[in-house]
Amino acid sequence: MNVGIDAISFYTPEMYLSMEELALARDEDPNKYLIGIGQQQQSVIPNTQDVVTMAANAADGIINDDNREHIDLVIFGTETGVDNSKSAAIYLQNLLGLNPNTRAFETKQACYGATAGLQMARDYVQLHPDKQALVIGADVARYGINTPGEVTQGGGAVAMLVTSNPRIISFDGVSSFYSKDIMDFWRPLYTTEAIVDGHYSNDVYVNFFNETWQQYKKQTGLSISDLKAMIFHLPYPKMGIKGLRSVLPEASSEQSTTLKTAFNFGSMYNKRVGNLYSGSLYLSLLSLIDNDDELVPGDLVGLFSYGSGAQGEFFTGKLEAGFFNAKRRDHIIAMLDQRKQVSVSKYETIFSSWPRLKPGDLSLPIDADNAKYVFAGVKNNQRQYLIRK
Ligand code: HMG
Repeated sequence: MNVGIDAISFYTPEMYLSMEELALARDEDPNKYLIGIGQQQQSVIPNTQDVVTMAANAADGIINDDNREHIDLVIFGTETGVDNSKSAAIYLQNLLGLNPNTRAFETKQACYGATAGLQMARDYVQLHPDKQALVIGADVARYGINTPGEVTQGGGAVAMLVTSNPRIISFDGVSSFYSKDIMDFWRPLYTTEAIVDGHYSNDVYVNFFNETWQQYKKQTGLSISDLKAMIFHLPYPKMGIKGLRSVLPEASSEQSTTLKTAFNFGSMYNKRVGNLYSGSLYLSLLSLIDNDDELVPGDLVGLFSYGSGAQGEFFTGKLEAGFFNAKRRDHIIAMLDQRKQVSVSKYETIFSSWPRLKPGDLSLPIDADNAKYVFAGVKNNQRQYLIRK
């Protein structure tokens, strides 16, 4: 029996910043951001969206009356949690009207949290084929105004429904993983911005990719020629290119072209959204299956997940018959196209108004946000979420 992703959807808020304009404002050559980093746009997250509302806005597209009664596991991968105790999964379960007889919890290991959730969900459904699981990767990537990491910010949520006999992609449960206690990127509890040793983090990422890829080949006997695409956690598109380039010497020139082309299709959405931490690998998966029309059912896709601190995992997925869905692709492209461009100064104002880590009531201007699920503020230390019909 195959187990994997049966439905997948994505949400990012309604505003974006042009990387060309950001470069000019920061006195950098625009080509550094557009080519050197590979980023064209970056989603700007209003303070009326958080990981709970972004996840609900994403999942809304795949939850229906049929699957609602079968879902009894909700795993929420995030490193931008809204509470140190209560998980974002419980808020989400309520907002989506899911079955109360559900296990709902959060997973955290930087950008790796959703992969941990996906693998757990896969194993659970393998044991209980009549059950379904909802897995989320949602985050807001924040480094700070005028920092080297600023060009790699962004945010959004990916929601995935894990079932038996999936329509999109199945996973065989074989993975290679590697973890090590290092300080490449972290966010202490007292700050809303990450602390990062940027160049070191780039090196660790490539090392972890190579470590897990070599291990995966030994475990499975597969080689690069078995893969039709390799996709990556994409903190920024150039990072994935660095990973891919490190293994291309193993490929024939024809295979090398195929993998580079597939990588470009797999980073189209990420180039317009920026880093969404735990959701980034799965946004790349969406970008690949929506846009690479050379792919056919049965093709094997390699996936590299990386979370700073650090955890890496390499696994593969087999594309299933219903992997392409034109309606889903059109919806995502329309969502990205319809976002409103904001100036650098407007982005700076929005960035600085992000709800700080301080107590007290808060009332937010939700009228400016057209999303179905919004964060309206805080009352008596309780977060207030609204659903628009
Ligand atoms: P920087 O020091 O400002 O940039 O920071 P740079 O000087 O390294 O330049 C970047 C690239 O642009 C270079 O290319 C330059 O050559 C090129 P490379 O040598 O790397 O191939 N360049 C140009 N290209 C064309 N025309 C030009 C031009 N000028 C320069 N005129 C850095 C870059 C990524 C370090 C910074 O943005 C940063 O710290 N970002 C955040 C950290 C990050 O994203 N790390 C990635 C790996 S860790 C990870 O993936 C986990 C993470 O997602 C968190 C989690 O797990 O939760 C971050």
